[in-house]
Amino acid sequence: MRDALGACNTVERVTARHSALPAASAEARVDADAEWWRSAVIYQVYPRSFADASGDGIGDLRGITRRLEHLADLGVDAIWLSPFYRSPQRDAGYDVADYCDVDPVFGDLADFDTLETRAHELGLRVIVDLVPNHSSTDHRWFQEALGSPAGSEERARYIFRDGRGDEGELPPNNWQSIFGGPAWTRTTDADGAPGQWYLHLFDATQADLDWSNPWVRERFVDILRFWLDRGVDGFRVDVAHGLVKQEGLPDYTPPEGSGSMGGGAFDDDITAAAPLPPYFAQDGVHDIYREWRRVLDEYDGHRMLVAEAWVEPLGRLAEWVRPDEMHQAFNFPYLETKWHAEGIREVVDSSLAIFGSVGAPSTWVLSNHDVVRHATRLALTAENPQGHGIGPSSPGQPVPELGLQRARAATALMLALPGSAYLYQGEELGLPEVVDLPDDEREDPTWFRTGGERYGRDGCRVPIPWEGFAPALGFSPTGESWLPQPAEWTAFARDAQSGVPGSTLELYRAALALRSEHALGLGTVEWIPGLGTDVVALQNRGVTVLANAGDAGVELLDGEVLLASGPVDDGVLPPDTTVWMRAD
Ligand code: GLC
Repeated sequence: MRDALGACNTVERVTARHSALPAASAEARVDADAEWWRSAVIYQVYPRSFADASGDGIGDLRGITRRLEHLADLGVDAIWLSPFYRSPQRDAGYDVADYCDVDPVFGDLADFDTLETRAHELGLRVIVDLVPNHSSTDHRWFQEALGSPAGSEERARYIFRDGRGDEGELPPNNWQSIFGGPAWTRTTDADGAPGQWYLHLFDATQADLDWSNPWVRERFVDILRFWLDRGVDGFRVDVAHGLVKQEGLPDYTPPEGSGSMGGGAFDDDITAAAPLPPYFAQDGVHDIYREWRRVLDEYDGHRMLVAEAWVEPLGRLAEWVRPDEMHQAFNFPYLETKWHAEGIREVVDSSLAIFGSVGAPSTWVLSNHDVVRHATRLALTAENPQGHGIGPSSPGQPVPELGLQRARAATALMLALPGSAYLYQGEELGLPEVVDLPDDEREDPTWFRTGGERYGRDGCRVPIPWEGFAPALGFSPTGESWLPQPAEWTAFARDAQSGVPGSTLELYRAALALRSEHALGLGTVEWIPGLGTDVVALQNRGVTVLANAGDAGVELLDGEVLLASGPVDDGVLPPDTTVWMRAD
């Protein structure tokens, strides 16, 4: 059924079998004719950890479908599914072995169709993850390359090079993998002799594709069409600042303190240009996205592309969302901003101005599957570069109550901002990072490739709690869970919070309902002066928003409180609290 190259077969395409969310859908929360993504709240589902219907301890597509109503009820506009494609799961599915099929661990294509249909019935759009920088070494493309001689067409799909040194015994350059260790692995030829090296910016099982090869570009257009024809509403593009490498692959050493994905310490100076790594943010990527945009524009229903690009400064990131490229990019400078009023005001201002200058909405995000959950991160007292994670021996251990209080305040602020916001599953329950996972349960390749020096990202990927007193907290009917869930998560379970005034879940629900009622996603930010440097004070479409990031209470303005992230008494806004008020 697949073409000889193992790509998504265009002949097999299910043209117009499914369309994206129909304009006439009564349930649709947004007018399908509008550019819905400009103001959407998009909920990230991490399939391994959302809901497990099969009972094997790993979440799956049927599990997601069964729980979709909860997301509609929460009030989000769309879901983004992290990868569910065929994969040996060496990097939790970001190591794709077939871009056009579902891994049996998650179900099959029919399960995907059912999920998508149900989501659309509920008025939820569906965004899937596209992983173009690298494929799994299990992918047929790579296996064929390995079985072919140096210089062959098959090898030209990836970045194979001869080694340095007399016998080619040294890697072709000094690049380090994002997950630790060298970014090159040497192959063995058919006769057993050491062969060429291949590049992998991530795990050794994730080989970088060669995007200067038109064959690779054609394959990915097929893949886009395969999913567009199935009716998906958009793509989250993994490592969208990668793909193209600088000619000659020059040596490069990242600056001290940079995050795993190439970003630096954003909040120090979000406008300063960092030196450009020769494997990230190369000019050549834009041509690829322009081609993809043309493909998406052929389809109805405003399909969209969102870039995962750890690029700074914001001005450079804005190049990804010029009118003929992607629609959105994750705002990681915002995510990396600490809980300080001045830094927050600055990043909000710059984001609105800079994305706005190219006609794109800003996005806002506080958590995802690659960072320490913000209910923990916002109360860390030591530097924690992205991707390093935290564990029992990390410095600056979190203070859980403070973290949750700040997280609730930070989310309430985020959801009041114009543009599009991303939520990560479990944050609506106030879940913290799991810090004390046993070493032998960890699965992130970062942990293994750094010999345990970096804990990696498992702590934010623990399966989420649905029912406090069910097996695996309602995640799986058998009680299995691929990462152990902390006993105290009983209190965080959805059923323990649903309908409970003041719970984190009800805060999210109320904020999303008010955001939609006042169309805050389509509004503007007007700063309110005079409340002191520690308060982020703004007005957006008739709603006054005050976030106190200082350590003392501040007198509240007069007026009706519409939403509060924590208790507010006697006209005082306590520290680490956000309120929304009706503006006079
Ligand atoms: C992206 C993903 C991350 C993955 C990496 C390699 O950053 O979000 O989870 O490990 O790409 O694909």
